[in-house]
This record gives sequence, C-alpha cells and structure tokens, in this order.
Amino acid sequence: MDNKYLGLTPPMGWNSWNTFTWEINEQLIMQAADAFVEYGLKDAGYEYVVIDDCWSEKQRDENGRLVPDKTKFPNGMKAVADYVHSKGLKFGMYSCAGTHTCAGYPGSFEHEFEDAATFAEWGVDYLKYDYCYKPDFIPGEVLYKRMAMALRNCGRDIIFSACNWGNDNVHRWIRESGAHLFRSTGDIQDNWESIKNLALSQMGQECYGGNYCHNDIDMLVVGMHGGSNNEWINASGDGAAPKLGGCTDTEYKTHFSLWALMNSPLMIGCDIRKMSEATREILTNQDVISINQDIECRGAYRIKQWNNPENVFSLIKLMSDGSYAIGMFNFGDRTSEMSLQFWDMGLPTASGRGFDMYDCWKHENLGKYSERFVTNIEPHDCLVLRARLVNMK
Ligand code: GAL
Repeated sequence: MDNKYLGLTPPMGWNSWNTFTWEINEQLIMQAADAFVEYGLKDAGYEYVVIDDCWSEKQRDENGRLVPDKTKFPNGMKAVADYVHSKGLKFGMYSCAGTHTCAGYPGSFEHEFEDAATFAEWGVDYLKYDYCYKPDFIPGEVLYKRMAMALRNCGRDIIFSACNWGNDNVHRWIRESGAHLFRSTGDIQDNWESIKNLALSQMGQECYGGNYCHNDIDMLVVGMHGGSNNEWINASGDGAAPKLGGCTDTEYKTHFSLWALMNSPLMIGCDIRKMSEATREILTNQDVISINQDIECRGAYRIKQWNNPENVFSLIKLMSDGSYAIGMFNFGDRTSEMSLQFWDMGLPTASGRGFDMYDCWKHENLGKYSERFVTNIEPHDCLVLRARLVNMK
C-alpha cells in the first residue's frame, strides 16, 4: 500500500444497497457520482461511491474471472470507475468471502487473488466483503486474512470493508486480520427501533474500533423515508402489515448523530439524487461530521441520566483539540431531562473552570456553564454539543 493514511478515519460515502438492492445499473451509479458533486456531499467529505451486491453475471467466465452483468453494466466496470474518478471521487465494489454473495452471485472463495487483481484492474478503491455461503470447514478469520493479503498486494490502495455482521467475535480478530472497517451488526432497517437497537448493541464495544479499523454499525438510512425496494429494510419495526418503514427527520438527525459520535463509517443509503433539504442538511452537517472524522478516533463513553438511565444518556468523545463532543440522547417516548455533571467528565468544581457550549445542530453558541449542563430532550431527539474548557473566573 502506498497511502499510509488509507482508512485512518471512518470512510464516508454512499452505497447502493439500502435503497436499490438489485435494481442497479451504470446510469444510477453515474448519477450518484453526479449527485455527490451537485448536492455538496463531496464538499462535505463523502468520497466513496460503492456498488453493493447484484452487479455481476451469475457465472464466472471461462478463465474464472468475474463478469459484470451485461445489461446493467454494458460498458464494464472500468468505465464506471473512470466516470466516478473523473468527478474526483473513489469507486467501491462488493464481493463475498463465501462461494456466493448473499443474493446468489459468485463469491470470491478460492478466487481471492484473481478477484483482487480484477478489482485493481478495474480501478476499485474500496471492497465490501460479505459472509454468506461461507464453507463451515474454514474459519471466517482465515478468509478475511486471505482477502486482506490479496488486496494489500494487488498494486492498488483498496479499502477493505469486512461485513460478517458481528459474528464469530469479529471484534477480537478483525484488526489484526487487516480490514479497515468491520460490520458489527446485522442489517439496518429504515425504522427507529432498528436504529436504536444497532446503536445500543455497540455501546461498550468502543475500545475495539479505532484508526485504520473502524466499527461499522451499518449504512445510514437517513432520508430514505420508506423508499427502499427491499421489503426487509423497509419494514416498519412493529411487525405491522403492510410494512412501511421510514423515520421522522428528527429520528434521522438522531441516527446521524449517533453514528458520528460512535465513530461509525458514514455510508449514505438513501437516493441521493432526490434528497429533501432536511436530508441534505443532516448529511452535510460539518459540525457533526467533524466529530466523526476527528483524527484520533477516540471512542465515546456513556453517562446515563440518573433518573431515566434506560432511555436517556450522554455520549462523550474527547477530541484531538482538547474539546469534547457531547451527544445527549432520548431513546424514550416521553420528554426527559438530561443533567450532565461535569465532574463525571473529569472536571473538578474547585478548578474554577467550566465549558463553553456550542450547539452543533443549531450552529450557535450557548454560552458558558459551570458544574453542569441541564436540558430537556424530546422523544427520539438529541442535542449535540461541542464543549470547550474555559476559565469561569
Ligand atoms: C448482507 C449485508 C448487506 C448487503 C447484502 C447484499 O449480508 O449485510 O449490507 O450487502 O448482504 O446481499
């Protein structure tokens, strides 16, 4: 690898799966690349345009090489990669550690080195690597090591995105195996319950993520509003039929804040060609993105609200400039107080110091606070603050 900063901070981009699943083609990917530029996603730091499952023919060619679907990608993948690169963006693709991908297309098992070579030839910069149809006789750990070896020696810098859904204690072995990010959860759905459960499932696992190997809580559903063609992703979360997913803009804002503070990669999953203004504002919020992209990637710690500990808590992340990013979340269904005592963050009252607070969603300064910060948070809402230490005297 030439770029020693590859994967330093969580990757940011867009992935076709959440909204389009199998309904992908050359035009869509090119339009997505256009949308990155046109709607300010590129300027906000989003970089990778990633094609997920269902891009290939069902059979390899006579030389054992993967073949792009002739109808969906009539000009091959190099042409798509060239277009994405021409926009100053990076190009991502998808394969699987097993014999087949989850949707039944050829996987890379026993083809790891030739596939890595093919991806390099096509100009791929990012590879998501799934876990379906994995032979039982060989540990997943070995298969991720294989592809990491193949990618790191294919002559091109390629981000390696492992996706084994948190199975087989992946946290414990994935960093040394060589992936730059690892999915720690099952697939996200476009509903509040799913967002909440995925976030909760990774609280307490912060120490496993970090520079060059990030804990991936799954792609974002921000702005999807029930727009997936995949019934499972689009499920309502309450089991009701007909299943219609979707969240409020407040819930999407909370989702984005959680993923940012938890150092998850920020891979957009909505149709970026048709974002509402609210969606665009959420996804391009620089004050929140800069929390996610802080160079040190320190995990956040959690302080629960003493009288509502199940639903209300703060996530606190120490930033490399000495400030703190503080997310205050209300997972419950009633308005609730969050009262953060600064001594819980390490600040002795006797120090004479306090915090100058900046609201990262309203983009305004809230003034100086000593000893504590108290606020009410609406259901499923959050407050994201940047706190800077100041002398109160
Ligand atoms: C799942 C994976 C999803 C998507 C899908 C494609 O295993 O978690 O993110 O890639 O496969 O079939």
